[in-house]
Amino acid sequence: MIRTEGLTKTYTMKGKTVCALNHVSLHIAPGEYAAIIGPSGSGKSTLMHLLGCLDAPTSGRYLLNGQDVSRLTPEALARVRGEEIGFVFQGFQLLPRLTAEENVALPLLLCGTPLKRRMDTARRLLEQVGLGERLRHTPAQLSGGQQQRVAVARALARNPAVLLADEPTGNLDAQSTADVLRLLEELHREGRTVVLITHDPAVARRAPRQIAIAKGQIAADSAFPARQKYPPSPDRPGIHP
Ligand SMILES: Nc1ncnc2c1ncn2[C@@H]1O[C@H](COP(=O)(O)OP(=O)(O)OP(=O)(O)O)[C@@H](O)[C@H]1O
Ligand SMILES: [Mg+2]
Repeated sequence: MIRTEGLTKTYTMKGKTVCALNHVSLHIAPGEYAAIIGPSGSGKSTLMHLLGCLDAPTSGRYLLNGQDVSRLTPEALARVRGEEIGFVFQGFQLLPRLTAEENVALPLLLCGTPLKRRMDTARRLLEQVGLGERLRHTPAQLSGGQQQRVAVARALARNPAVLLADEPTGNLDAQSTADVLRLLEELHREGRTVVLITHDPAVARRAPRQIAIAKGQIAADSAFPARQKYPPSPDRPGIHP
């Protein structure tokens, strides 16, 4: 499903080069639910942007569903992204003037799905995330946890193989965090591949697999306990194998 080989991303700003991701080789199998955990600045969002085909690596390879997507043009990358990946972000990123069902239907509108089919899909997904009674509510009329569940439904609209969630519970209280995590677990049980990015060990522990990243490298991976690159230690924060 997801396979990276020596994935590297450097950013150059004002003549200074930062290596945000340094030779990351990772395999996430179809249907896996993995949490990527690491401290601020460790490269989590950079990795998510690459895995989500929002950006191309500086070097290394990325195979998504067997297809090498590391050297695609931005247009081709956008097409793969739309077909294969669903995103959930910390700040929900719903359109404020649209209702819940219109927000969920939007990705389908953008790829030319007929009206009836996209509204049927939106309603079905909103029912699945427990918001069948809130179809016509706008984001402002929903709680944070409900907004995030709308965002999860939207991420599923085009039936992506992979769901990528970057700090999806970062803005939520304990109850809504539990609701959203339960929802991700349910999607995983249905066979969806889920990658959750978080800096919160309690959230990461809910996933069957935890991958710790520190300073742009994989520091520990619960799927390979013997292959830890670095032993967990206080001077390498964010490692929670
Ligand atoms: N567009 C960019 N241009 C320049 N440097 C960047 C850019 N994006 C990220 N970086 C740098 O790359 C490193 C990794 O950043 P990244 O955003 O991936 O970290 P993160 O683990 O997601 O942190 P956080 O938990 O705070 O969201 C940081 O040093 C950051 O300053
Ligand atoms: Mg980040």
